Amino acid sequence: MKKLKIGKIELQNNLMLAPMAGITDLPLRLLAKENGAGLVYTEMVSAKALVYGDDKTKRLLKTDSSERPVAAQIFGGDAHSMGEAAKIVQGLGADIIDINLGCPVRKIAKAGAGAKLLADEKLISKILTAVVKSVEIPVTVKIRIGLVPGQNVAPEIIKIAAGCGIKMAAVHARYASQGHSGEPDLQAFGEACRGAQIPVAANGGIVDEMTAERFMKIPGCSALMIGRGAIGNYGIFSALDVFFNRGEKLAKAGKAERVKWFKKHAQMSAEYYGEPRGLVMMRKVCHYYVKDLPNAAKIRDMFNKTQTLQEFNKILKNYIGI
Ligand SMILES: Cc1cc2nc3c(=O)[nH]c(=O)nc-3n(C[C@H](O)[C@H](O)[C@H](O)COP(=O)(O)O)c2cc1C
Repeated sequence: MKKLKIGKIELQNNLMLAPMAGITDLPLRLLAKENGAGLVYTEMVSAKALVYGDDKTKRLLKTDSSERPVAAQIFGGDAHSMGEAAKIVQGLGADIIDINLGCPVRKIAKAGAGAKLLADEKLISKILTAVVKSVEIPVTVKIRIGLVPGQNVAPEIIKIAAGCGIKMAAVHARYASQGHSGEPDLQAFGEACRGAQIPVAANGGIVDEMTAERFMKIPGCSALMIGRGAIGNYGIFSALDVFFNRGEKLAKAGKAERVKWFKKHAQMSAEYYGEPRGLVMMRKVCHYYVKDLPNAAKIRDMFNKTQTLQEFNKILKNYIGI
């Protein structure tokens, strides 16, 4: 894949792991990175909570040198606290700050943040300017194509963002009203890329070479951002790299490889959070690892009750045979 430059930062390719709250913690980001992701994102954190000095929020931004470059995502609806939060994030060692302009969930909308901001160009402009001016590291945005189908606000928002000094826009090509399901609007995404003065990354429904290619074929699409398609399926990064560089399709990761990732993830999680918390954290991703196995629901239930790594590995051995 082409190497993408975000401000002064050159990535090893143009493949990114999407930010996902409750999912893209340090262990999962490291797995994505060691399997070829060019850029990984933290979970989103509240700018206000950071400014208030909330320790739990700061912990979500803990990064490791081996995952660099890493982008930290913040959300908020107020320019002052977003600027202050950006300084804190920079001080914590992030390489890139990403601003969430795409989250449609009620709690975020209530804070006047996320996708809600797409309807207020003036406020977006104020927030982006405040963040860019507060830090030296590159600032990016993650947006939706629009709030409701038929309303493509992305071209205008990207123009505003570029004018404010934003270095890249990732576009989740579903409308905010769709949540995380349904087909991405490829035509609207194409319009967002056309004439964009900053690199545009595609996001939404990328799970393999075919779903990646339909975006990469669009003129002006500079990068791919993968969310759920990468959870428990980290080989997707190297597979896409090989596909777009050499035109070859690698074999899909088989059961043995996926179980190996599952086991490693649980171990990393237990080491990072300690027991039982590390195993409890695995419950959010368990479904992605076991969904294709026979008796997936039963196996998932068992994993969801484990408190120790020893119990976890015993279930792996007894029920999956690895
Ligand atoms: C569980 C979950 C948590 C998410 N959290 C965030 C988040 O913190 N910030 C963000 O910008 N998007 C978040 N998203 C949206 C993803 O980044 C991505 O845009 C979405 O999943 C579509 O990509 P996909 O179809 O490849 O999964 C989240 C999605 C999921 C499923």
